Amino acid sequence: MKFDVAIIGSGLAGLSVALHLANTHSVVVISKGELLDGASNWAQGGIAAVLDSGDSYDQHIADTLIAGGGLCDEAATRYIVEHGKEAIQWLIDQGVPFTRDDSAEMGYHLTREGGHSQRRIIHAADATGHAVQVTLEQLVRTHPNITLLEHHCAIDVINAAKLDTDSAPRCVGVYVQSVKDDKVLAISAGHTVLATGGAGKVYLYTSNPDSSTGDGIAMAWRAGCRVSNMEFIQFHPTCLYHPFAKSFLISEALRGEGAQLKLPAGAGTAAGQRFMPQHDVREELAPRDIVARSIDFEMKKRGLDHVDLDISHLPAAFIHEHFPTIQARCLEFGIDITKQAIPVVPAAHYTCGGVLTDLHGRTDLPGLYAVGETACTGLHGANRLASNSLLECLVLGRAAALDIEQHPAPPTPALPAWDESRVTDADEEVVISHNWDELRRFMWNYVSIVRTDKRLERAQHRIRLLKEEIDEYYAHFRITRDLLELRNLVEVASLIVNSALSRKESRGLHYSRDYPETLEKAVPTVLTPD
Ligand code: FAD
Ligand code: SIN
Repeated sequence: MKFDVAIIGSGLAGLSVALHLANTHSVVVISKGELLDGASNWAQGGIAAVLDSGDSYDQHIADTLIAGGGLCDEAATRYIVEHGKEAIQWLIDQGVPFTRDDSAEMGYHLTREGGHSQRRIIHAADATGHAVQVTLEQLVRTHPNITLLEHHCAIDVINAAKLDTDSAPRCVGVYVQSVKDDKVLAISAGHTVLATGGAGKVYLYTSNPDSSTGDGIAMAWRAGCRVSNMEFIQFHPTCLYHPFAKSFLISEALRGEGAQLKLPAGAGTAAGQRFMPQHDVREELAPRDIVARSIDFEMKKRGLDHVDLDISHLPAAFIHEHFPTIQARCLEFGIDITKQAIPVVPAAHYTCGGVLTDLHGRTDLPGLYAVGETACTGLHGANRLASNSLLECLVLGRAAALDIEQHPAPPTPALPAWDESRVTDADEEVVISHNWDELRRFMWNYVSIVRTDKRLERAQHRIRLLKEEIDEYYAHFRITRDLLELRNLVEVASLIVNSALSRKESRGLHYSRDYPETLEKAVPTVLTPD
């Protein structure tokens, strides 16, 4: 199969690139599940952008830099923030039904989230990602130049220099496996875009969908690209705490509209009291790293398994209008959020680091781009500002498309078929699920909100053992989506731990008990493959 552009991932980043290129290029969008399986479809709060004359680029930039703990790249931040309004206009032009407010300047309601000094989050009630993704899905499904390969899992990108030592390094395509019949296809492409999302599944508790296994980051690393800032894993402060609720987020927009964090019944005489005022002057609207760490502190100090988030003091009609999805989901678990508090815990939410790119989405390997959560442009620094992620997907999606348009690819070589000679069924496939479980559990226990060198070293040791086992398995047995994802997760876990060990300070989302101080000079972590 041969295309001008292969896009791996069908989240907002991938679909943006596809739609910006499809009128002039043949495009294939590869997704390991259904088109809407990524995190984008789950996004709740909205998209941050300067959309009101009472707001300014400088304020949005300042808020991003403050949340980012001094580590954001200022040029990247300015570029992305200043392209926000046109990115939102593009979505409106595609037909996204954002929540209206006729009294607002642009005619859309703007909500607020932690770390923002202004109301600047445009949203579609509390299911913004779904509204965006179903709109774009219709457009890609009907575009004649876009081929969709759903249920196909990318294995690795192909470097021309590895096929023929006389060739210059260049990405010339990707091997993908059909999840349904295990066949591996070689897809030839002049340009390849990694838009595979983040890596939340490396942790036992996460707000992320099953697809977030860091595949693009691991593929880029294996292809020789640098990765940056992988120690900065964002834990969202408020995920629903319920034994049967898998990965359900309670949007920060609730706190933006006035919800309060309180100690739950298990806290004895302190039950029902707010605790954020004791941790930060911005209270419930402090940036996420601070709120998540405060909850973690209260839970550990008081032996609690959760805290409460209470919005029940607001009128029921307001709650229903702004948070219908969250209200309905909580009701399924017997929680009426108009009358009672919601039990919540922090969970792994966002990978601030990723494949190092420039502001065109270019990686170190010519022909290979990375956009969205897979990439590290420098926007998020040590802690992402709420609702800046979808913004980055849109702005960098367009920038990468423009760059691809302006730099036609040289002819691609013939690609060798995938080597099927190793195809032996594994005798014990349960090893894969055991290893998945082990990895996610020790990452949660040793590499989460509060870290120490000793715990990181323990995790590093276990990762080494797991890696050996998985590499052996990968070399000898039939590959499956589970095995491919596990191989990528362990690679990403190793990048997170090695980055965390190299940072001898606490900054943003990386808090180390061994190095509680923040150093004067903020330096990004950059790892280079051997
Ligand atoms: P994704 O949307 O995750 O898409 C990744 C795609 O890659 C998927 O289609 C997946 O199937 C595919 N894929 C992965 N690996 C492979 C492979 N090997 N082969 C083929 N396909 C592959 N951010 C905001 O700015 N505002 C919000 O309100 C907000 N709310 C959020 C709520 C939740 C519950 C979550 C989890 C995140 C939220 N975020 C929010 C973060 C934001 O949604 C994500 O960072 C963003 O959607 C990532 O988009 P993406 O296109 O990079 O990746
Ligand atoms: C949320 O709605 O709380 C998620 C927003 C984000 O992750 O940016």
